[in-house]
Amino acid sequence: MSNPGPAVPRTVADNPSDPHDREVMLKEVLEGLRRHQKELSSKYLYDAVGSALFEDITRLSEYYPTRTERALLERWMPEWVELERPAALVELGAGSAEKSRVVLDEMERLDAGNLYVPVDVSGDFLHETAGRLREEYDSLIVRPAVADITEPLTLPGKLPEPAWFALLGSTIGNFDTPQATRLLCRIVGQMRAGDRFLMGVDLRPGPNKSQERLEAAYDDAAGVTAEFNLNVLTVLNRELGSDFDPQGFQHEAPYVPEASRVEMHLRATSPKNVHFHGADEDIVFVTGETIRTEISCKYNRTAIDGIFSDAGLTVERWVQDDDGLFALILARRA
Ligand code: AVJ
Repeated sequence: MSNPGPAVPRTVADNPSDPHDREVMLKEVLEGLRRHQKELSSKYLYDAVGSALFEDITRLSEYYPTRTERALLERWMPEWVELERPAALVELGAGSAEKSRVVLDEMERLDAGNLYVPVDVSGDFLHETAGRLREEYDSLIVRPAVADITEPLTLPGKLPEPAWFALLGSTIGNFDTPQATRLLCRIVGQMRAGDRFLMGVDLRPGPNKSQERLEAAYDDAAGVTAEFNLNVLTVLNRELGSDFDPQGFQHEAPYVPEASRVEMHLRATSPKNVHFHGADEDIVFVTGETIRTEISCKYNRTAIDGIFSDAGLTVERWVQDDDGLFALILARRA
């Protein structure tokens, strides 16, 4: 994940030419669009265009998570790295590795460890990032691993101890609680007693964080997030030969308090029939019907303690900014 950068998988759409991939994607997409609440996996948002738009989002004044997390990393890494002296950093969803540089800088400065294992689903992107890091950090050993972080995890070789596993950028928020728990369980499965888990999460509205501010981060005035959301229809048209007219849909991203999450939707502004190449039935929209394209869960200490306890983790340190926008967490195996 890049960060700024896609925290999340770029996948299927990267390799449209393989007919097998197309079949798998078509089946998955149609299955989601035939549900009562139409939905699409958020991974389809992150093709090359979507990933670049997400990078633009991270620089918007309304999108506070990226810069708040970065400030927290800059504030706390000198202390945490000095105390814990990680010998290796494994970053899940590494992307352009922008955030992990703050950790790597401290590891280098304090002469703690020099192994960096970026894990990302996009191989091209990952190897490009690995090359740049090798140039920038003289003594850093970069061992990239191409993998989908939502699949069982196998890392290359044995890691020196202690290792830090990092999941930054509130990437966890894209998963519902059962999925998040499964993902964390797989990470814990790789951790030894001295290893640590570093995670950044976006927080729920509170005394100094209004729901309006949270919602503005997902519906910016310049319309970049709207473009990012609508791009998924172009991805489907390109990869699956569907005939969505993006002009006929509107971006929405409300905070849903009952679910403690922002939900991105695309709302049909008129009735429509959408045809997918090779599908026997059209997907039918009535006016006002929506497709949910992404969830972005928001947390508090209680919610994290619950998920961590189910996954076998214990919070060791929890820090947040003064306004309670975002939290940075260091955890160990329970
Ligand atoms: C990459 C999942 C952390 O949920 O804030 C930003 C994605 N979507 N604006 C988030 C996103 C719309 C982002 N994550």
